Amino acid sequence: MTITIVPAPPRGSEQEARERLVTEQVEASFESSPDQRLKEVLQAVARHAHELIREVRLTEAEWEAAIEFLRACGDITTDTRQEFILLSDVLGISMETICVNQPAEGDVTEATVFGPFFVDDAPRVELGGDIAQGAAGEPCWVSGTVRDTEGSPIPGARIEVWEADDDGFYDVQYTDGRTAGRAHLFTGEDGSYRFWGVTPTPYPIPHDGPVGKMLEATGRSPMRAAHLHFMVTAPGYRRLVTHIFVEGDPLLASDAVFGVKDSLVKTFTQHGPGTPTPDGRRVEGTWSQTTFDIVLPREDATTTTTEA
Ligand code: BEZ
Ligand code: FE
Repeated sequence: MTITIVPAPPRGSEQEARERLVTEQVEASFESSPDQRLKEVLQAVARHAHELIREVRLTEAEWEAAIEFLRACGDITTDTRQEFILLSDVLGISMETICVNQPAEGDVTEATVFGPFFVDDAPRVELGGDIAQGAAGEPCWVSGTVRDTEGSPIPGARIEVWEADDDGFYDVQYTDGRTAGRAHLFTGEDGSYRFWGVTPTPYPIPHDGPVGKMLEATGRSPMRAAHLHFMVTAPGYRRLVTHIFVEGDPLLASDAVFGVKDSLVKTFTQHGPGTPTPDGRRVEGTWSQTTFDIVLPREDATTTTTEA
C-alpha cells in the first residue's frame, strides 16, 4: 500500500485571523480577574494551548480522545493512586517545575521527583542503623554529610530515606502491611550520617492505567533507573527532595520520569563476600558502598522570577 501525504492547502489570512480571534477573546475574558497571578497563568494556558492546536491542526476526534484519556486518569485516581501526578511525571512537567523553583547553583544538591511511595511516619533509626528492616536485597552502606553552601556542617538535619526492594517493590505495594526499606535519621554534630540499606535496583512506575497505555502506544518504557530516595529538612534551610542513582545503570539515559541529573549519579562500590564492613557488621554475601554529600541552600535562597 502506498500512502500519499497530501499537503494541507495553505490557510488564507482570513482563516488565520478567525483562529487567532478565539485566542484573543479567551485572553481578554480573564482581563478583569482580581487575582493577577491567576490571570497571568490562565491567559498563558489559553495562548499556549491554542498555539498547540493550530500547530498540530488538532482534529475533533483527537480532542475527544484526549478528554477520554483525562477521564480515565480521574477514574483510576484514589487516595493512594494519583494518575495525574504520574502523567505530570512522564511528561517531564514535574521535573521542569522543580528545575524552575529549586535552582541548584554552585554546590547546592539538585532536587528530583518525589514519587508516590513516600510515607510520613517511617521509623527512626540511629546513625549506622539498618533502614532495610528485612527488605530483600544486597546490603548497601550509605554515608555522607549535610552542609550549607559555605561548607559548614548542619547538625540535626532530618533525613528520610525510602527505596524499593530487590524485586522492585516498595513496602506499601505489598498487602501485608510491612514497613521495610524506609526510615528517618538525624545528622550528627559534624553533619555526617550513615546507614545500611539495599543496593537500588530498577523497577517500573505503575503502568497498569491510562498513563501506562500512553507509554506503550508511544513505544516508551515505564522503567525508572535504580535509585534511593532522600528528603532532607533542617530549620532555616530549603527542603530537599532528591534521589541518588547508580553509576553504570543502563537506564540512566531513559528514566521514565526524567529524574536523573548527572550530579546525582553515584559510584556504588561492590565488595566481595566476607570483606570487612565500615561498622564491623558481618555480611555473608556481597555488599556495596556509596557516598552522598548533600548541600542545602538557606530557605530564603529560593529565587522565583516573576516579571512585574
Ligand atoms: C518512584 O520513584 O518510585 C516514582 C517516581 C515517579 C513516578 C512513579 C514512581
Ligand atoms: Fe522510587
